[in-house]
Amino acid sequence: MRLISYRRSGGPDVLELLEAPVPEPGPGEVRVRVAFSGVNPTDWKSRSAAQPGPEGQVPNQDGAGTVDAVGEGVDPVLVGERVWIWEAAWQRRWGTAAEYTVVPARHVVQLGPEPSFELGAALGIPFLTAHRCLTVAESMPDRLGAGALTGHTVLVQGGAGAVGNAAIQLARWADATVIATVSSPRKAQLAAAAGADHVVNYREQDVAAEVRRIAPKGVGAIVEVSAARNAAVDARVIGMHGAIAMYADDGGAEVTVPVRAQMGPNARWQFVLVYTEPERAKALAIEDVATAVADGAVRVGAEAGLPLHVYPLAETAAAHQAVQDGAVGKVLIDVTV
Ligand SMILES: NC(=O)c1ccc[n+]([C@@H]2O[C@H](COP(=O)([O-])OP(=O)(O)OC[C@H]3O[C@@H](n4cnc5c(N)ncnc54)[C@H](OP(=O)(O)O)[C@@H]3O)[C@@H](O)[C@H]2O)c1
Repeated sequence: MRLISYRRSGGPDVLELLEAPVPEPGPGEVRVRVAFSGVNPTDWKSRSAAQPGPEGQVPNQDGAGTVDAVGEGVDPVLVGERVWIWEAAWQRRWGTAAEYTVVPARHVVQLGPEPSFELGAALGIPFLTAHRCLTVAESMPDRLGAGALTGHTVLVQGGAGAVGNAAIQLARWADATVIATVSSPRKAQLAAAAGADHVVNYREQDVAAEVRRIAPKGVGAIVEVSAARNAAVDARVIGMHGAIAMYADDGGAEVTVPVRAQMGPNARWQFVLVYTEPERAKALAIEDVATAVADGAVRVGAEAGLPLHVYPLAETAAAHQAVQDGAVGKVLIDVTV
C-alpha cells in the first residue's frame, strides 16, 4: 500500500510517499481502508516540531473510510462499516495519510450509509473542538442537540475558519442565535452559508456594539480563535456565567484580561486543547457530533460555508502547505488517487 511518512521534523519536504505492507490491527484496534484524510493546522505543526520514532510518522489526525479488519477483542461486526476517525496520530505512529491505517476501536465512529467520506474526514478536530467550546460555560448545557441552545446566543470569532464553521453549524443545529465575525465580504458569505444569523466584519464594524445590539444581555459562549487580539471585545460582550473558550494560541501571544469587568458576570476564560479535554467531555462531543451527522445537520462544501480543496495522496506536502498558508475552507486528501 502507499502511505505518507516523515522520519524527521521540518517543512513539507520531509513528507515522503512510500510503499509498505498493509498494517495488521493489534488488540483493541481496527484497520480502516481510508478514503479521505482531513488536514488541520495541528498536522503541519506536529510535522514541524515533533520527533518521529525510528519507523516514521504517518501524518494527519482526521479521516474517513471503511473498516476492513479488526484486532483481538474487537467485535467483527464492525467490518464493512463506513466510519470517521478522530485523533488517529495523537501519540501514535499511524495517521490517516495512508491507504490503510490502524487505530484504537474507540477512535472510529459510524458514519452511516448516506454521509460522504468528505464530510467524515472534516469532522474530528474541528467539530470536537467546537463542541468543547460551546459547552464549557456554566450558563450553557454540556450536551448539544436539536433545541439544546434555544434562547442562547453565541459568538464565533472567525466564522470562516474550519473550527468557526463547525461551531456555527453545531450551534445552529442546537437552535442558538449565532453571531460570527469575519474579515471580508467573501468570508461573510461563508459564515452566513454555514448558518450564522448575524455576521459582523471585524475590520469595518464595532464588534462589541453590534453584539450588544443583537444580544443586550451578552452571549453565553465565545468560540475564540484569537484571544490575544479579541480579549477586550470578548470582555465587553460575555454574558452572565458565560465562557470565552480559547482554542488557538495566536503564535504564542499573551492575553490581557480586565479582571474587575469579568467578575460581574462570573465569566470563565477557558483554555481548550481537544487532545487533552476531560474524557467525559470528549465522549459526549463524539456522541453529539455523530447525532448531528445522523440528523443531516452538518455539511461540507461551499454551500455550507466550507469550500473543499482536495489533493491526491502524493501531494500531501502541498495540502499541508495550503493549510499553513491559511486556505479558506477544508483541505482533504483523496488517498485513493
Ligand atoms: N486547541 C485546539 O484543540 C485546537 C483545535 C483546532 C484548531 N486549533 C488551532 O486553531 C487555529 C484555527 O484553526 P482552523 O483549522 O479553524 O484554521 P482556519 O481554517 O485557518 O481558520 C482560522 C480563522 O480565524 C480567522 N481569524 C484570524 N484572526 C482573527 C481575529 N482576530 N478575529 C476573528 N477571526 C480571526 C481567520 O480569518 P481572518 O484572518 O481573515 O479573520 C480564519 O478564518 C489554528 O491555530 C489551530 O492550530 C486548536
